[in-house]
Amino acid sequence: MRRILVTGALGQIGSELVPALRDRYGADRVVATDVRMHTFSTDGEAADREAADGDGPFAYVDCVHIRQIADVVQRYDVGTIYHLAALLSAVAEERPREAWDVNMGGLYRVLEVAREHACAVFFPSSIGAFGPSTPRDQTPQDTIQRPTTIYGITKLSAELLCDYYAQRFGLDTRGLRLPGLISYVAPPGGGTTDYAVQIFHQALRYQHYTCFLRADTCLDMMYMPDATRAMIELMETDASRLLHRNAFNVSAASFTPAQLADEIRLHVEGFAMDYDVDPVRQKIADSWPDSVDDRAAREEWGWEPEWDLPSMTRDMLHNLRLRLGSAS
Ligand code: NAD
Ligand code: SER
Repeated sequence: MRRILVTGALGQIGSELVPALRDRYGADRVVATDVRMHTFSTDGEAADREAADGDGPFAYVDCVHIRQIADVVQRYDVGTIYHLAALLSAVAEERPREAWDVNMGGLYRVLEVAREHACAVFFPSSIGAFGPSTPRDQTPQDTIQRPTTIYGITKLSAELLCDYYAQRFGLDTRGLRLPGLISYVAPPGGGTTDYAVQIFHQALRYQHYTCFLRADTCLDMMYMPDATRAMIELMETDASRLLHRNAFNVSAASFTPAQLADEIRLHVEGFAMDYDVDPVRQKIADSWPDSVDDRAAREEWGWEPEWDLPSMTRDMLHNLRLRLGSAS
């Protein structure tokens, strides 16, 4: 089996996807890469600065530099790329030019290297690829997509670019429209759904959280173990079963900040939440669906979430309590 490369591997998803892939395929089969770690790197020498991170190979790769991607793909005989590197929605709205360069420029270069070396590519799209004119409830798999954020525009363009490389060059590109992801291993990277992670930390530390979204803002969410499993299952599915290769709607639960706070209150006595709405992130959230219809994923490759709001909340609090306990 050729090796797997993960870009943006030190982020919220990569921090759990890399261990999941290493458990499944072997530590030395999965090469983690990111632009963090080696602050001294410069373009020319960066790709040569490599280290084993204890569990498996790690290499510095800035995905806007095609040579850095190509060098690692060649050196490690990579056959599959999970391309996670990107700027998330709130950060992208602050730095739109950089968001375009990283989100689109990075993907384009990854696809070009994949074409050269016949690699399969996983791409994480988002509920952000939808916009205010998209049907809000049970958003269909194939529907109107007119996103109004730079993040959403890069995600929709990326879905189309992945489709193009599949049709035009026969590249095996696959992807999911991920909802907001909830996890305790690594912090979220600056998205609109980050409140749903921050709330757990603040509930345990202070029994209080000030939410930056309105109480009734309904969004799709998923617990990270479901998300990493979905990515791996999609990539392992026989290609002949897939009609929607690059942008499967997937969901596990759909809830508001008020509903999440109620659920946490069942486990954290006296937990209180107030609101200080951030107009930028509220506007982003208001342009996204309340819930998506993920029947295509269920039918084409057997997607089935294992975690719902109550079980996810229990597990998050349990694991964060263990972490806080071991830190004190
Ligand atoms: P994150 O912000 O936590 O991590 C992104 C990683 O990419 C960081 O470690 C960062 O250092 C790295 N990076 C940034 N610029 C880079 C570059 N030029 N070259 C290489 N690496 C670079 O993000 P995440 O939550 O892990 O998300 C990963 C992917 O999944 C993104 O494409 C994101 O849009 C998508 N996604 C995430 C969520 C979510 O809720 N976390 C939901 C939907 C889609
Ligand atoms: N969680 C992501 C964000 O808020 C959705 O893609 O940016």
